[in-house]
Amino acid sequence: MKKIIIDTDPGIDDGMAIQLALHSPELDILGLTTIFGNASVNITTDNAMRLLEIADRTNIPVCKGTDKPLKRPFAGGVPQVHGEDGKGNIEHPESKLKPDPRSAHEFMAEQIKSHPGRVTILAIGPLTNLALLLQEYPGIEELVEEIVIMGGNAFCPGNATPAAEANILSDPEAADIVLGANWKVHMIGLDVTHKVLMTSEQLDRIANTESPLNQYVSTTFHFYRDFFKKVDQIDGIYVHDSTAVVYVLKRALFETKDFPVKVETTNSISLGKTWPSMGESDHEDGNELLPWKNRPKVTISVDVDANTVLQLI
Ligand code: BDR
Ligand code: CA
Repeated sequence: MKKIIIDTDPGIDDGMAIQLALHSPELDILGLTTIFGNASVNITTDNAMRLLEIADRTNIPVCKGTDKPLKRPFAGGVPQVHGEDGKGNIEHPESKLKPDPRSAHEFMAEQIKSHPGRVTILAIGPLTNLALLLQEYPGIEELVEEIVIMGGNAFCPGNATPAAEANILSDPEAADIVLGANWKVHMIGLDVTHKVLMTSEQLDRIANTESPLNQYVSTTFHFYRDFFKKVDQIDGIYVHDSTAVVYVLKRALFETKDFPVKVETTNSISLGKTWPSMGESDHEDGNELLPWKNRPKVTISVDVDANTVLQLI
């Protein structure tokens, strides 16, 4: 079984991704760590605990992460996409669970040290907890198996702005640290997630199963579906975060390219854009000015067998 920590900001599609991970016998979920993003970290933490409670998997710890980006204030979430409550404005009681006393990055460090080379971190929210992990535990990157992130847009437009994807834009400085660190990063960005559209008919099939978790997650779909209908004129939802779970499970469904990636961190209209280099020549010594110099290659997903991904979900 693959040991995995899911760093998440539930979030409607995060809830679906956690649902898929909990139903995947290939995964040994060591814990959920939470982050601000789709809503405040207090809300996303409660939502994460609620999912585990409903799934009857309360043996999995939930560790609360940081409440703001490294260098910027928290922007206030995206109530227009995920609702004020991060779950589509449904009436639902708060969780009875308490978060684990360890902070998100403390928990990650502890688990990574206990299982050197065997822990995958799946990050499906802003990357601040991971940047804190790197800053506070120097050398920890060498002990991690791999980092899989849902975030960024290498060769396509953004979704939060014309330039940037939401998770990266939420903390561009943290994203630049994580994508530039010396560990193996896989980027599942809009290049592929905008090809994975779950139709209303497929959503109804999830709603019509008997599992309590499926029933609960299905109540959150409607708000998200209405958002995409209004803004993108599509009938269905992009399952961004679940696509990254599928990458962990079935990598052969994805086509990838390896490039170093820099994140735009200046306050321009391109803030949060993930820029891949244009190839090997960017690494040539002697050109000190190139922004990608000495950065490791990130494995970027550029295409996906979307139908098979949707069937698997
Ligand atoms: C990402 O942003 C969030 O709104 C979603 O949960 C997903 O992680 C998509 O850009
Ligand atoms: Ca998310």
